[in-house]
Amino acid sequence: MNKISVKAKSTLLLFTFISIILSFFIFKSYSVQFNLDLFILIILSSITESFVIVTPNSSGVTLTFGILLPVAILFGPSAGVLCSIICILLSVYVIDGKKKHVFNIEWYKTLGNLNGYVISSGISSLFFVYFNGGLKFTSQSILYMFIAALLYLVIDILIICYFIRLTTNYDLVEILKESYKDIIPNYLGIVTLSIIIVISYISVGIEMVVVLFFPYMLIRYSFKLVYDMKENYLSTIKALSSALDEKDSYTKGHSERVEKYALILADAIGISKVDLQQLQYAAIFHDIGKIGIDDQILNKPGKLSVDEFNQIKEHPSKGVHILGNVSFLTKATKIIEAHHEYYDGTGYPKGLTNEEILLESKIITVVDIFDAITTDRPYRKAMTNEEAIDIIKSESGKKLDPKLVGIFLELYEKGRFAL
Ligand SMILES: [Fe+2]
Repeated sequence: MNKISVKAKSTLLLFTFISIILSFFIFKSYSVQFNLDLFILIILSSITESFVIVTPNSSGVTLTFGILLPVAILFGPSAGVLCSIICILLSVYVIDGKKKHVFNIEWYKTLGNLNGYVISSGISSLFFVYFNGGLKFTSQSILYMFIAALLYLVIDILIICYFIRLTTNYDLVEILKESYKDIIPNYLGIVTLSIIIVISYISVGIEMVVVLFFPYMLIRYSFKLVYDMKENYLSTIKALSSALDEKDSYTKGHSERVEKYALILADAIGISKVDLQQLQYAAIFHDIGKIGIDDQILNKPGKLSVDEFNQIKEHPSKGVHILGNVSFLTKATKIIEAHHEYYDGTGYPKGLTNEEILLESKIITVVDIFDAITTDRPYRKAMTNEEAIDIIKSESGKKLDPKLVGIFLELYEKGRFAL
């Protein structure tokens, strides 16, 4: 009980209470007719529940609603609720190489899932039965099924996202955007397929439902590809970043340290999780544009000529060219473009001043300068932390935002930037 807040526990208890009352009402009002078909559907729902897709905020989504909804519509609300409970209890999946099941998943996650499934399945099936006038099927039923499916989705997604918010402190809108924005078309595909499953069962039988299970799993696979694609993009750019480390040996490890320092500073300021993520990407890739700069200039031991320095100054814009087409790095790219803009307008490439520069860019500028001073460069040896702090103080209000410098110095005094 220690891992979640008191507010999360009370909300969970409230939702559990609602689930129990709803289940009690449904089981009292509608009986379950057990047969082989229902048994097969329960097995299929347990299989889909075991194919969890891990989202960017490390929560998991499944497509089980596409089976639970037909169960509730074909066999009644009681069967829907029962199937929801059984599939969660029987599901076994692998996350980060670890096998997860009801006996080793955190109790509050299982309970949160159960609540989400029972409430959404219960309410949507009650809606269908009420407006459709029972479990009979007419042409009007398709419309009610469609609305019931959307109702199911909205309730389930909101409940799950709310529980993620309570246990992770992510903003509700951010969770919705991160976990569901890219996969809405896939969800609508599952809604349509769940209606086809109902019609196929009525007109052909359970055999047709089993056949439809294959395209169903194919849609699930396309879900997974959406998330995998993001991971692959990141891996590719990270590989590019490692290539830069090899090319410019003096900056080896620089990006990792800038990432770490930038997150510490941003956390102290309290920026949102989505902005924090973009800042993290920007910090990792802030010097990626140097891949397009001549090695001899990057590793030149002496002072750079004006022309050579002008070439170095092109690296933020070159970074924009490299990352500009990656849709989920849009903000990170803007941060990178301005990471050498200075508070007093003397920076590059555009000579922006304070309010014109993104906060995240200013954060990177502070920690970038700190790390650059305290590490060996081709043209000079590393300075001490104390010397670096003196330079940071002297640049406050010039290159660096004084507010950020103030917070940086406070954190430094607390030893937060000691590696
Ligand atoms: Fe840079």
